[in-house]
Formats: sequence, structure tokens, C-alpha cells
Amino acid sequence: MTSIMKIAIIGGTGGMGEGFALRWVINHDITIGSRDAEKAINSAELYMKTALSSYGSNMKGTIKGTDNISCSKDSDILILSIPYESIKLTCDAISNNIRKDCIIISPIVPMERNDLGFTYISFEKNMKSAARLLADNLPNTKIVSAFHSISEVKLKNIHESLDSDTFVCGDDQDAIEKLNQLIVEIKGLRPLYLGSLSLSYQAEVLTPMLLNASKKNKLKHPGIKLT
Ligand SMILES: NC(=O)c1ccc[n+]([C@@H]2O[C@H](COP(=O)([O-])OP(=O)(O)OC[C@H]3O[C@@H](n4cnc5c(N)ncnc54)[C@H](OP(=O)(O)O)[C@@H]3O)[C@@H](O)[C@H]2O)c1
Repeated sequence: MTSIMKIAIIGGTGGMGEGFALRWVINHDITIGSRDAEKAINSAELYMKTALSSYGSNMKGTIKGTDNISCSKDSDILILSIPYESIKLTCDAISNNIRKDCIIISPIVPMERNDLGFTYISFEKNMKSAARLLADNLPNTKIVSAFHSISEVKLKNIHESLDSDTFVCGDDQDAIEKLNQLIVEIKGLRPLYLGSLSLSYQAEVLTPMLLNASKKNKLKHPGIKLT
């Protein structure tokens, strides 16, 4: 039996945050965080309506909204579903609140678009990977990175099987196993361990690669599956 976890999503008002909330509320309690508490409360209400109309009485969890700082307190799992550029400011705001045993998840991709297409800015501008930057800003925490090659459109569609793999990077075995349990609760999603958090750039770079392939070949929200 799945035990109910407290999952907090900083930046939960964005597309990925909505997808995580809708997929996991069937079994877990979700808190949506925003820089603006009212925006989070409104998003949480909308997500709750969508989830209830899909899961009905099978739904064990709830979705509520609050500001990012309150959201970071007392969660088992804390997802930082925010842009790369906002990592430092967000970490500065929440770092004192995070529980010692909390697992921090990063789907963050340092990416931009230029004349050539989508690029991975850590390579282009010699900057840190998202996971590296997070680890520097949240020392002594358990960080796992994953979900980089998952499209928000597919994630938000509760009934769609993702039929994909997601690469997982981290240094804490217990944290990786807990995240793997959550990943397999998402229909059609398989976790594949890639290695240490320092290898996260190999997973992060897949997002601009997928977006370029998608645009140039007219593919809708492609994912990755190893065969
Ligand atoms: N979208 C995808 O398909 C996809 C796929 C794989 C990975 N990712 C990665 O996953 C992360 C989340 O993706 P997303 O598309 O949901 O992102 P997003 O919509 O761009 O942003 C998510 C939330 O972050 C908050 N935010 C925006 N700018 C901010 C700032 N300057 N400082 C602090 N918070 C800020 C906003 O929430 P509030 O305004 O409510 O605070 C926003 O709703 C990103 O790093 C992205 O690269 C996305």
C-alpha cells in the first residue's frame, strides 16, 4: 500500500507543477507554492476540481496553495519547479525552512532559444548545471534531479500514459528510491538511474535537444525511451 506523502511544489502554478500535482494527488497531499499566495490558492482550487472530476472517490490526497516560503516547510518531498534563473533567489528565501530529511527534486533545465534553436546555456555560457547550482545554494540537502525530458502537456493529461523513461541523478540512495516510487505512480513512466548528481547535465541537455527535434520534424511532445 502507498503511504501518503506531503509533496510541496515551489513554482507549482506553472505547467510542470500542475502536472505533478494532478498525477500525485490520487495518493498524496500536495501543496502548491507561488511568490503570490493568492495565485497559488487559485491554482490549487482549479487543480483540485480537475483531479476530483477525474479520480472521484479514488482520490486520497488534497491540493492546497500558499506562498513559496510556507510551502517549503514540513514537506517530505519538495519540488523546485522554477526557471533556472530564479534558483538563487528562491533558495535564499526557503533554505532555512527545509526539513533535514526532506528530499528536493529538480526538473530544472538551463535553456534558452536563439536563432539556431533551443540551447543548453550551461554549455553555451559555461554556467553550472541546474543540479550543481541547486546543490551549491542548498548545501547539506538531499537533491535528486529528474523529469527533464517529460513534456508538461503530457504530464497534465491525467489519463495519458507517458510511455517514457526519465533519467534520475542523485547521491543519496534512500532519496532516489523514494523518488522512484513516486515516478512509477505516474502511468507509463520508468525511472532510469543515470548516476551522481554531478552527471545531471546529461539529463538536462536532453530538453533543448528534444525541443529542437520536435520543431524541425513536427513531432508533438516527444519523450525518451531506452530500448
Ligand atoms: N514545461 C516543460 O514541458 C518542462 C519540461 C521539462 C523540464 N522543465 C523545467 O521545469 C521547470 C518548471 O517548468 P515550467 O514550464 O512549469 O516553468 P514556468 O512555467 O516557466 O515557471 C514555473 C513557475 O515558476 C515561478 N517563477 C517564474 N519566474 C520566476 C522567478 N523569476 N523567480 C521565482 N519564481 C519564478 C512562477 O510561479 P509564481 O509566479 O506563481 O511564483 C511559475 O509559474 C523549469 O526549470 C523548466 O525548465 C519544463
